[in-house]
Amino acid sequence: MRKNIVAGNWKMNTTVPEGVKLAYDVNCALKNAQPKCDVIIAVPFTHLVPVKMHIDTNILGLGAENCADHTKGAFTGEVSAAMVASTGASYVILGHSERRQYYGETAATLKEKVGLALENGLKPIFCVGEVLAQREDGSYFDVIKAQLTDSLFDLSAEDFGKIILAYEPVWAIGTGKTASADQAEEIHAFIRKLVTEKYGKQVAEDTTILYGGSCKPSNAKELFAKPDVDGGLIGGAALKADDFMGIVNAF
Ligand code: 13P
Repeated sequence: MRKNIVAGNWKMNTTVPEGVKLAYDVNCALKNAQPKCDVIIAVPFTHLVPVKMHIDTNILGLGAENCADHTKGAFTGEVSAAMVASTGASYVILGHSERRQYYGETAATLKEKVGLALENGLKPIFCVGEVLAQREDGSYFDVIKAQLTDSLFDLSAEDFGKIILAYEPVWAIGTGKTASADQAEEIHAFIRKLVTEKYGKQVAEDTTILYGGSCKPSNAKELFAKPDVDGGLIGGAALKADDFMGIVNAF
């Protein structure tokens, strides 16, 4: 059975003390909430160790927002998958549209990153999604298929089973424009069909597919009610413990 998950992506927000407080507050709220889903926060590299010291990772999973596409060495400013894993983090977001758009990450780079994350025991939260022009010209199915195929579909079924997918339509990220629950379900079902064709029904049924893009307490319930929407990847609303818990409690 696949897991329902609500994951926060803090992006480039909060100082270390602010982040530690936010994580601590979420952890305390979860202790009293008995959530019906797994809950994860993905935080800036600088925050991983101090946040880890202030949360119980059995209650609140911890992840990074990126990792390097090389193992080690002369790559100034980069942080390797092994470094991330050594902080005690268990997850890493890869393929986020902001990384693709602003830092030129390609399918090939992402394939390297996914491989290194898995080698180091990290579970990738792998993002796919179309930009507005691709939604409007109808090419979005092809775009999403290519993103999955080019970076993930060379994995063994065993390794693919460790991946969490996230559908994040770029036009819905930080814009306040959520995909409707029907629009999300259409793509989630399409993704599950592609996974079925590649890896078979069981793997597809076990794959968690999150929705991301202006997800908030007021729309989470309707989105999560769809059969192929297994939770959310939350940006802005993950920066306030109450809002984030409102989404967690949508399950
Ligand atoms: P928002 O929830 O702020 O739209 O961001 C979504 C996102 O990019 C999560 O990775």
